[in-house]
Formats: sequence, structure tokens, C-alpha cells
Amino acid sequence: MSAQAPPAGAAPAGAPLADARRALRRCDELAGLSASAQGVERVHLSPEHARANALAAGWMGELGMRTWSDQAGNQWGRLEGRAPGLPALVLGSHLDTVPDAGRYDGVLGVVSALEVVRRLAPRAASLPFALEVVAFSDEEGTRFSTALLGSSAVAGAWREEWWERTDRDGVSVREAAERFGLDPSRVHEAARRPEDLVGYLELHIEQGPLLEAADRPLGVVTSIAGARRFTARVLGEARHAGGTPYPRRRDALVGAAEVVLAVERLAVEADGIATVGRLQAHPGGVNVVPGLVELSLDVRAEHDEDRDALVERISEHAQRSCAARRLTFELTETHTAAGVRCDEELQASVVAGIAATGDGAPLRTWSRAGHDAMAVAAITPVAMLFVRCADGISHAPQESVTLEDVAHGIDAFEAAVLDVARRRG
Ligand code: GLV
Ligand code: MN
Ligand code: MN
Repeated sequence: MSAQAPPAGAAPAGAPLADARRALRRCDELAGLSASAQGVERVHLSPEHARANALAAGWMGELGMRTWSDQAGNQWGRLEGRAPGLPALVLGSHLDTVPDAGRYDGVLGVVSALEVVRRLAPRAASLPFALEVVAFSDEEGTRFSTALLGSSAVAGAWREEWWERTDRDGVSVREAAERFGLDPSRVHEAARRPEDLVGYLELHIEQGPLLEAADRPLGVVTSIAGARRFTARVLGEARHAGGTPYPRRRDALVGAAEVVLAVERLAVEADGIATVGRLQAHPGGVNVVPGLVELSLDVRAEHDEDRDALVERISEHAQRSCAARRLTFELTETHTAAGVRCDEELQASVVAGIAATGDGAPLRTWSRAGHDAMAVAAITPVAMLFVRCADGISHAPQESVTLEDVAHGIDAFEAAVLDVARRRG
């Protein structure tokens, strides 16, 4: 812990905790907008997504922001600066979730951005930019197995083939968009022009254990790793579980199990990260040798070249080990994002923001998790601020943050915005 870092859990000096309390209450409120009664699940273009956008739009409206939702399902709010129509500094994150999610991934960034706007609204007339808040519609890729759909549309990087992607029920992105009230032929209208933007700042929970280990509430993100995601298929032959002798079996699940183990081993060897998060055996009968297994694969590393080399190694190994069992291995890419470096000047503003909360030499880390900032970086400089989360747990219901850390986060976020304003004069 640095000499300047506030002690873990200490109340932020002079800052009221009321804003953090409201932010956390709103995280709870959003958690109630879920497709599942047991946990939180709010996916792209779902009825819960529409309700979350409406709730966020209401909060934006209360702050005097002009609100709109774009043709990719993102919710926006805008407060003018010292003159109407100035380029905007955008603050935001996402409101969609993974299945059985926690309450803070993405959501904390949106509600904290609103607290920053609440604080700055009385002096908006002196800001050299407009302040915008965006709640992105799809960061996780839970529903259509391709991530960053909302922020990619904003970056003007929408791909036509995405329309035909389907969810587990066979509903395509196009159908889901139309049911949501969007017009697919107008998705390009969601794209923002670089000249209308000053930059993008995102506050997010760390989703890892580094801040906790360093006993610090906040950290600065230096770069964001780009994930590649795949659907893999192991093809064998479905046959009677009792009547088929071992030499005649072509068991796709046993082959897939070897692939899963190799994925972990190869990733550890390469200092990368690779995960099989979903696996389905077909036909799924207790007395049938599995003839087909579908599995997901998510691969990451600090540098894209290392990640791509790991993908190659996994693919070659899986082809070989499956062939040895007379199985076929197929790998189809469903998502790819290039790793992104955070902008040096905006990072300096985040450092200044954290310094204002008492930590003059904040922890710097690259993000193993993906973020909307990666897509937005194609059109404007981006930077990110991490808030400690308990035990580094995320993408699980146990996700947890403290009131004090969130208060520090909002303070630092506000101070970072003011630092950007100071630099722009
Ligand atoms: C998003 O949370 C990701 O990194 O998968
Ligand atoms: Mn996430
Ligand atoms: Mn997230």
C-alpha cells in the first residue's frame, strides 16, 4: 500500500456517502429487472433490457439531461456544456448481464456516471464539453454469442452478418431488434462521429483480485485485452451405451473432455487465459454414447499476438487428440475484439482523479475482462477506472463492493472529469 493510499474501507474524506448509497440502491433496483426470479439475467433486446433503459432514462431526465435511445438499443443522456452542441465527454458502461450475474458488472459504471453528472450539473455551464452518459445494450454477448454489439454500433463497426445470429430459441438479432422496436435498416444511425466526441471514461469493478491484494480501492487501466470466442463441435457417433464395445465407440464427450483439459494446460503454459464455459452433449440420453458435443471457447492474453498463437495451439492440439479417437473437431469463430491501449492523457486524468481521493500513485493494470471501451476506442480516446470488488469475484451472484469504495470511485470519477476539463481549458 502506498503512503498516500486511503486505508482500506476508510470513509472518503469530506465526501458524502449519500451519492454512493444512491448508486448502490440503483444497482439493487436494476438487479430486480431480471428474466430469472432466482438470479440476475438481463440480456440484449429482452423485455428486461427495455425496462432497464426506461429506468436509466428516467434517472437521466431527473438530472436535466436530454435522453434518447439509439437504433442499437443503447440508452443515452446529454447535458450541454458552456455552449450548446459542443463535443461530448462520454461516461458510461453497460446494463446487460451474463446468466446468474452479480449486480455491479457494468451497472456500477452507469449509475456512478449519473452521480458524477449530478455533481457537475450545477457548473455544466462552465464545462468545455457536453457531458453524456451511455448505458450500452450488449457488452457480454450472452444472448447472441457475440459481444459488444451496442458499443460496436456506436463505433460505426456494425457487421451485417450479425443480423442473422440467433439465440438459443432460434430468434435472430434482426427479429429481436424488430420486437424491441428498432429498425434494423437504421442501425448506422447509432454511430457517433469522432468530431462530436472528446473521449470516453468508464468506471467498472475490477473483476479480479489485484486491488484487494494491494489494499487499494481504485486502480487505473492501462490496456484492455481483446477476447476471441468460438463455438467448437466434436463429432463422433451416437450409439447404444450398453451394446457398443469400446473399440467401436466414437464418444464425442470423452473427446471433448480431453479438449477441455488441454485448453487449460495450454493456456497456463502460454501465460494466457482460455475458458470453456458452455458444453452440451447430444443427444443427451443417459444410455446413449454422445455423438456430438458443442462447446464454447474464450481466449485472451495481454497481447493479441500471444492470444492468436494460443488459439492456434489449442486448435492444432484438439484436431490431433480428436483424430486419435476417430472424432472430428470443428472450430467456428463467433467474436473477436482487438486489444486496446488506453489513451495516455485520459489515463493521466484518471490518475489525477484517484490522486484527489488520496492515492497519489494508483495501481496500474491491464484488464483481463472485455469492456465497451474497447469498441469505443475506434472513434475516440478511452480510459478506465477500476473499483475493487470482494475476492475479485465477478460474473457470479457473489459480486460485491463496499459503500466506501464506491464513494471513492465516484469522487475519483468526478475529479477525473474535472481534470479533462482543466486540460481542455
Ligand atoms: C466481459 O465481461 C468479458 O470480459 O467477458
Ligand atoms: Mn461482464
Ligand atoms: Mn462489464
